Amino acid sequence: MVTQTEVPFPIGQGDVTVTTKRNRQVHIRHLIPKDVEILVEFFYHLSPETRRLRFISIPPKPPRELIKREAIRLAALDPLRQAALIGTIQEDGCERAVGVSRLASKAEEPETAEFAIVIRDDFQKEGLGTVLFDLLLQIALVRGLKRMVGLTLAENHGIHRLVRQAGLPVTSQTSRGETTLTISLSDSANS
Ligand SMILES: CC(C)(COP(=O)(O)OP(=O)(O)OC[C@H]1O[C@@H](n2cnc3c(N)ncnc32)[C@H](O)[C@@H]1OP(=O)(O)O)[C@@H](O)C(=O)NCCC(=O)NCCS
Repeated sequence: MVTQTEVPFPIGQGDVTVTTKRNRQVHIRHLIPKDVEILVEFFYHLSPETRRLRFISIPPKPPRELIKREAIRLAALDPLRQAALIGTIQEDGCERAVGVSRLASKAEEPETAEFAIVIRDDFQKEGLGTVLFDLLLQIALVRGLKRMVGLTLAENHGIHRLVRQAGLPVTSQTSRGETTLTISLSDSANS
């Protein structure tokens, strides 16, 4: 197995253009620090419901400063423990995000990474979430991770369905309205 120091998460390399089920083209690439403004605009294009499903406890009208701080944090990736992909389109003459997926592991648990994914409302149910999730899975596998964990609302049928459709072993634990999904990336019995 590769160790944490040998192979950092691939950042800033590789991109792909995919065609969604509604025949729209989305360019998928790695997130870079310069994407802060794109992330801020992306947040403001998400419906309150999508924000709630993604961020779980978020105030209804978060101040722009808070969103910007969070975007700076998300875009400043630690190559050893984090990876993030952004799906973009050209809209009104500028590059806009329509989906973001992210993987992050903690130093004390380097073989486990938490994942998160969010698709802009008008691009949901077109297969984009599945593509971004599959690419995250590939990064996690290349990285030698043993499991991916997602913290979701128990009522979030979309993400539960998407994760199960990947075909890997998944366990779920629900407590107080939140479901933790654990995807096993390893065949080992003690994974
Ligand atoms: C959950 C989410 C990422 C799914 O992305 P997506 O691009 O819409 O998903 P896909 O189009 O790839 O769909 C994958 C499967 O899930 C199903 N699905 C998607 N959204 C669904 C929903 N709201 N309810 C039920 N099923 C749903 C699709 O129908 C598809 O199944 P099918 O192939 O049998 O039709 C997206 O809806 C989203 O951003 N939600 C808000 C944020 C969120 O919940 N993030 C997850 C927390 S980490």
